[in-house]
Amino acid sequence: MRLDKFLGNCGLGTRKQIKEYIKNGMVSVDGNIITKAETSIDPNVNEIIFSGECLTADYKEFRYYLLNKPQGVVSATRDNHDTTVLDLIDTGFDKDLAPVGRLDKDTEGLLIITNDGKLSHRLLSPKKHVEKEYEVQTREPLSEPALKKLEEGVDIGDETPTLPAKAYIEDGILHLVIHEGRFHQVKRMLQAVGNEVVFLKRIRMGNLALDPELKPGEYRELTDEELNLLK
Ligand code: URA
Repeated sequence: MRLDKFLGNCGLGTRKQIKEYIKNGMVSVDGNIITKAETSIDPNVNEIIFSGECLTADYKEFRYYLLNKPQGVVSATRDNHDTTVLDLIDTGFDKDLAPVGRLDKDTEGLLIITNDGKLSHRLLSPKKHVEKEYEVQTREPLSEPALKKLEEGVDIGDETPTLPAKAYIEDGILHLVIHEGRFHQVKRMLQAVGNEVVFLKRIRMGNLALDPELKPGEYRELTDEELNLLK
């Protein structure tokens, strides 16, 4: 990889700024000041220091974070009005990170943030049928027939009804497990059975569960074990 590209990936600034930093001797590779932006480097092998800070100490090409998304934050990379989920992730290495799919602004819970586009694509591909589990607080208690309808599939105004799902009550809260990702799907499913979502929280995606230690707004890196669960 080119040195300037690596520094860009580290989020150090614009291409122009980075070229200036390099030209001004602010970057060393394995102890030698390097002034050519196109110098070829390997961040897994070389030690790259910018202005006294080692950038390669914990460099990983792919980064994976588990965020407990709070309400009031949008699942976008940029927004002119609202705080985005990326505004919550302050890693220093945040170039190219993006949320894996979306949760509504008022939805809380598990959101994976990564720069691994392939993994993201796999998890979101409709063909892969990755399960998503939600805790749903509803305006009215759910009747047995309503649970059954949610499980069998309901007409939410799309071309086809929703695919079979799992729906059960635990500690007074509806758990809904779906393996599609239609727009506002859970809210529309509850509407289709004459009810309404008053609070929605995602607690699982595939085999990855939300860490109960993470408060809304908190995040941490995925462990290798968790990553394997997703792959
Ligand atoms: N379904 C919804 O209606 N909203 C979400 O945020 C996620 C699933």
